[in-house]
Amino acid sequence: MAGKAWGGAFGEHTDPRVEKFTESISFDARLAAVDIRGSQAHARMLAEVGLITADECCQIVETLDVIGGEIGRGEFAYRTELEDIHMHIESALIQRIGDVGRKLHTGRSRNDQVSTDIKLYVRDCLDALDAQLVELQRAFVARTEIDEGVVLPGYTHLQRAQPVMAAHYWLAYCEKFERDRLRLQDCRARLNVSPLGAAALAGSSLPINRRITAELLGFDDVAANSLDVSSDRDYLAESIFAMSLIAIHLSGWAEEWILWCTTEFGFLKLPDAYTTGSSIMPQKRNPDVLELIRGKSARVVADVQQILTLLKGLPMAYNRDLQEDKLAFFDAFDTVYACLELAPSVVEHARLRTETIEARLEEGFLDATTLMEYLILRGVPMRTGHEVVGKLVRLCEQKKIRLAELPLAEFQAASDKITDDVYGVLGVRNVVARLQSEGSGGAGPVATQVQRWRERLASMPRTE
Ligand code: ARG
Repeated sequence: MAGKAWGGAFGEHTDPRVEKFTESISFDARLAAVDIRGSQAHARMLAEVGLITADECCQIVETLDVIGGEIGRGEFAYRTELEDIHMHIESALIQRIGDVGRKLHTGRSRNDQVSTDIKLYVRDCLDALDAQLVELQRAFVARTEIDEGVVLPGYTHLQRAQPVMAAHYWLAYCEKFERDRLRLQDCRARLNVSPLGAAALAGSSLPINRRITAELLGFDDVAANSLDVSSDRDYLAESIFAMSLIAIHLSGWAEEWILWCTTEFGFLKLPDAYTTGSSIMPQKRNPDVLELIRGKSARVVADVQQILTLLKGLPMAYNRDLQEDKLAFFDAFDTVYACLELAPSVVEHARLRTETIEARLEEGFLDATTLMEYLILRGVPMRTGHEVVGKLVRLCEQKKIRLAELPLAEFQAASDKITDDVYGVLGVRNVVARLQSEGSGGAGPVATQVQRWRERLASMPRTE
């Protein structure tokens, strides 16, 4: 039983298969740095309230730094029988400084310790994701300059609907990723209360001061209820969900661009550095990066499922089930972060095939809705206008011409409200010049949006 933190009451050695089954060191070793930070704060607090001496505190803090250095350099050996990262670090400490090391765990349990570690770790992850989302927004905003003046067909049901400025597309993505950022920030704010000192489930009879550790670790407050602390993983469920929505947004963008790269659409060219070829078909240029961004979203959605199912029906307080929580979070984070690392470059280096887009831009009656609005402005009831334009579209389909090619007499036969200025609202360029409502895809409102986004991003810090 030597070496086991609970050895005192146990009469038998743990079955090695149980050790292998219950270990978490194979996946929680990545908490080493935050575990050390948490322990150092805890030691400082213990010294401040007089539970250990200042000298003991120094020994603990310094030795933990040495251990942290070894772990960072890959010189630290992990052993399954020591179960998790918390036990590894504590036993290494005890091995080096003996009884002083044996005092570190005073007034805490692994239950509040693990929650503290995860919160510190998740906090950094949320910040890293946030910064990467800003980089992605920057890439989209940079595109508004590259594609200045370009008009794209807008779709609903993947059918041509109304034209919009290309920048309107790029900024639509910025809005989605902005909401994702707000969700991360919101999640971070709710998470940022300190679990440390809740101990196993009931707190402690010792004169610990949770405010001190909370402040040292950058928490805004102390969690109010120790039972709640011991069982709470809401912050993981929330952050994994927030990541899943990022993944879903990325998957929609990836799908759209995959379509746009097809010969059928011909809207977009991806740079060679972000495509792969075929081992048999020499002409192929496949959008694998986008396909994998689309595909990897499945994992993150599954991670949401995993964490919720893990938490379902758990009685208070800590249950060992919770050890599996980290797997869902790490997987979701690694996946989403990897996607966000590549996405800005893909956005930045892709090129719209403006000639192909332009050549077919007048197809699909993208001006029909604006023609209807022209009638509304001349006093025609909306439903009547809709019907009149519907008939005109049908007529054009039969004649295989565009609305702008229809003679005035035909327009006037359909409605006596139409005069020859109708040609000023027809055609895609006229439409985008006229779309004027706030937030619309017309040239004017889009210029306002571009301006707002440029200003917003200029004030954001840059990631290397
Ligand atoms: N490795 C454990 C986990 O990740 C640490 C907490 C263990 N607590 C306990 N009471 N056995 O959840």
